[in-house]
Amino acid sequence: MAAISSVGILGSGIMGSGLAEVVARAGIDVVVRSRSRAAADAVVASIDKGLVKAIERGRATEDERAAILGRITATDHLGAVADCDLVIESVVEDLGVKRALFAELEEVVKPGGILATNTSTLPVVELAMVTKRPELVCGIHFFNPAPAMKLVEVVRPITASDETIATALEFATTCGKDAVEVKDRAGFIVNALLFPYLNNAVRMWEQGTASMESIDTAMKGGCNFPMGPFALLDLVGLDTSLAILDALYEEFRDPNYAAVPTLRRMVAAGHLGRKSKRGFYPY
Ligand SMILES: NC(=O)c1ccc[n+]([C@@H]2O[C@H](COP(=O)([O-])OP(=O)(O)OC[C@H]3O[C@@H](n4cnc5c(N)ncnc54)[C@H](O)[C@@H]3O)[C@@H](O)[C@H]2O)c1
Repeated sequence: MAAISSVGILGSGIMGSGLAEVVARAGIDVVVRSRSRAAADAVVASIDKGLVKAIERGRATEDERAAILGRITATDHLGAVADCDLVIESVVEDLGVKRALFAELEEVVKPGGILATNTSTLPVVELAMVTKRPELVCGIHFFNPAPAMKLVEVVRPITASDETIATALEFATTCGKDAVEVKDRAGFIVNALLFPYLNNAVRMWEQGTASMESIDTAMKGGCNFPMGPFALLDLVGLDTSLAILDALYEEFRDPNYAAVPTLRRMVAAGHLGRKSKRGFYPY
């Protein structure tokens, strides 16, 4: 099993940015690819901003900053990930978009390169099957914010080889994460258990049981959760949350996964949470 020494990250959203930082901090070269060069450059600028703050607080040095930034290349060119040992796709949670991207990756990435997805819920096997290397395709699911969250779920579609899964688990460990292996089922472990709770919190608020502030305060104080369900939905992104619920419902038909109307309406209105500066709370 060869260690991963270069990683391509596709997508420059919340997760693409976080992943680029995690991988570069782990001492591995990263190519961040976005559809626009400006968005890819913005990822590097935001990582640098965080490093400058860390230096001010005495938590990083100028040498570390230079080393981390020196490992990151920003690009809008998909061919730039051709020589990467591992490519992690982290674009919008939409199966059609991801399938099209995996078909392109098959053409571009060197033979033997592992193709992974950071999807929260979509069937990884469907991405594997648009490539000619399904044994080299798996899920590597990081959590938000990626630099802070300890967990990575390594998702094993029935097509993946043992070596691919072992390499993905070792890569996650190299990134300083606690890695767990899970079968390719919508929501894997965490989101399959978390999203009925988030969805039912919105339902409880819709029914007028309590204000959203009270529900957030209750779940923090009563369960020792670091944030309440509304703050967490805003952090995850309401569009991503809706896509996760829809994928869970599609797979299991469990009413707890049927997205409550408020969530769907908020997404239609463009209230997506922190990233659009307005969700359940204003930002
Ligand atoms: N937000 C979370 O908490 C979280 C956590 C873990 C995993 N994920 C997963 O990570 C992935 C990205 O989520 P995010 O939260 O970073 O989303 P985001 O909305 O912040 O970013 C989405 C990215 O996809 C790109 N994109 C949109 N449409 C595209 C298209 N047609 N072709 C190519 N790129 C396109 C956007 O330019 C952007 O770079 C999703 O699969 C999501 O399920 C999200």
